[in-house]
Amino acid sequence: MALERTFSIIKPDATRRNLTGKIVAKFEEAGLRVVASKRIQMTLAQAQVFYGVHSERPFFGELCDFMISEPVVVQVLEGESAIAKNREVMGATNPADAAAGTIRADFAESVGENSVHGSDAPETAAEEIAFFFSGLELVG
Ligand code: CMP
Repeated sequence: MALERTFSIIKPDATRRNLTGKIVAKFEEAGLRVVASKRIQMTLAQAQVFYGVHSERPFFGELCDFMISEPVVVQVLEGESAIAKNREVMGATNPADAAAGTIRADFAESVGENSVHGSDAPETAAEEIAFFFSGLELVG
C-alpha cells in the first residue's frame, strides 16, 4: 500500500448542521490524517470550474447553487490508500445506498446534499488539491 493524499469537501448541508467535527472524527478513526484544512465560502465561478465535468448534467445548476449556499471545509487527507479509504468512509453518493456507519449513511440528507465530496482517482486528487491549496499550505 502507498501513502497517498486525497481531497475532501465537507459540504454546506454538513457545515450548516455543525457536523464538521463528527465528520473529521470519521476520517481520523479510519486512519486518515488531516494535513491541510480551511473553511471557505466558495464562489459560483469556483463551483462551476470545480464541478465542470458535470456541466451537462441536469443537476449542475442546483449542485453549484448548493455548494455556495453556506461555507464549506476543504481538506487534504493523507494515509495508506487514502483515495479509496476516503471513498469507503464517505459511502455511496446516494445516502439511501450508503453502507451503515459511513458518513453519508449517518449524516447526508439526499443525493444532492450528501455532506462530503472526495476525489475519485490519483489524477483528480492532485488537480483538486491544487485547485484549493498552494504548496505552502501543505505541511504534511
Ligand atoms: P460529489 O461527490 O460531490 O460529486 C458530484 C456531485 O453531484 C455528487 O457528489 C452529488 O452531490 C451531486 N449529484 C449527483 N447526482 C445528483 C442528482 N441526481 N441530483 C443532484 N445532485 C447530484
